[in-house]
Amino acid sequence: MTLAFDEFRETCRRRVDRSMAACLDAAPLPCPGLDEAIRYVLLAGGKRVRPLLVYGACQALGGEFADADAAARAVEFIHAYSLIHDDLPALDDDDLRRGRPSLHKAFDEATAILAGDALQSMAFETLGASAGKGDRAGMVRELARAAGPRGMVAGQVLDLAADGAGTSLAELESIHSLKTGALIQASVALGAMSTGKTAPGQLAGLREYGRCIGLAFQIRDDILDVVSDTATLGKPQGSDAARDKTTYVSLLGLDAARNQARELAADAIAAIAGLGYSAAPLRQLADYIVERID
Ligand code: IPE
Ligand code: IPE
Ligand code: MG
Ligand code: MG
Ligand code: MG
Repeated sequence: MTLAFDEFRETCRRRVDRSMAACLDAAPLPCPGLDEAIRYVLLAGGKRVRPLLVYGACQALGGEFADADAAARAVEFIHAYSLIHDDLPALDDDDLRRGRPSLHKAFDEATAILAGDALQSMAFETLGASAGKGDRAGMVRELARAAGPRGMVAGQVLDLAADGAGTSLAELESIHSLKTGALIQASVALGAMSTGKTAPGQLAGLREYGRCIGLAFQIRDDILDVVSDTATLGKPQGSDAARDKTTYVSLLGLDAARNQARELAADAIAAIAGLGYSAAPLRQLADYIVERID
């Protein structure tokens, strides 16, 4: 990765971390245990890919990061909630996340369920209450659709139903696009919308970029579950195999899964060919998503 991309990543990571912390500090919660649980999850790392996509799309259209801060926080809040619930015994039953005990292990299941609920509400509150350019009600709708029963939640339901059920590649593509792709695509769209200056064609290109890297992201996640190790991932390597999950690797094998992810990254980059140098971080993010090691 180039130095410029590393700088972009660090700048955006620091920015969203500060912004999330400020959001938590702004109004103390009436229940300290919940506050502690939310901070345990939010302020303990993670790659912040979805906020990076928000800022990357904002920069691609010549926007100001300040207008994208609320969307960047909101997508990370939704993502954090999804990870907490994904790890619960009723879902993937994983005990390690971001190198630490999953929230239901560090605290308890009730706290994990409720912290997830809280983070979901916080996402919509922070985005809905934000000033800044763009159609803020439209942005709230965008996020709600991506996170909800026509997006991520649908994907999670289908993912669980697919376990050991002879899932086809077309079905798996749909599951991955819903459970992971929808929020990633929305992150790109929200970054663009936060500038208040998206031309219709531009937004369509960015959505196609988001669709491609959203699917590629989950294919890479499937690959890492096989080829990486628990220390690097910060979550249990081999979790998919242990649960006999259908993944891109189990259906296609490693090489074809890798090729599929790379092709999608190339398609993503092609979809934003009309954007100039300001879209460089988005192009580099597409490559990063399919080459990342954690
Ligand atoms: C993991 O997401 C869950 C998936 C959607 C595959 P990330 O790989 O972005 O997790 P963090 O935020 O870096 O921990
Ligand atoms: C998770 O997919 C998707 C969501 C959290 C919505 P995985 O179950 O593969 O994610 P990891 O591997 O546990 O991070
Ligand atoms: Mg899962
Ligand atoms: Mg999981
Ligand atoms: Mg996984």
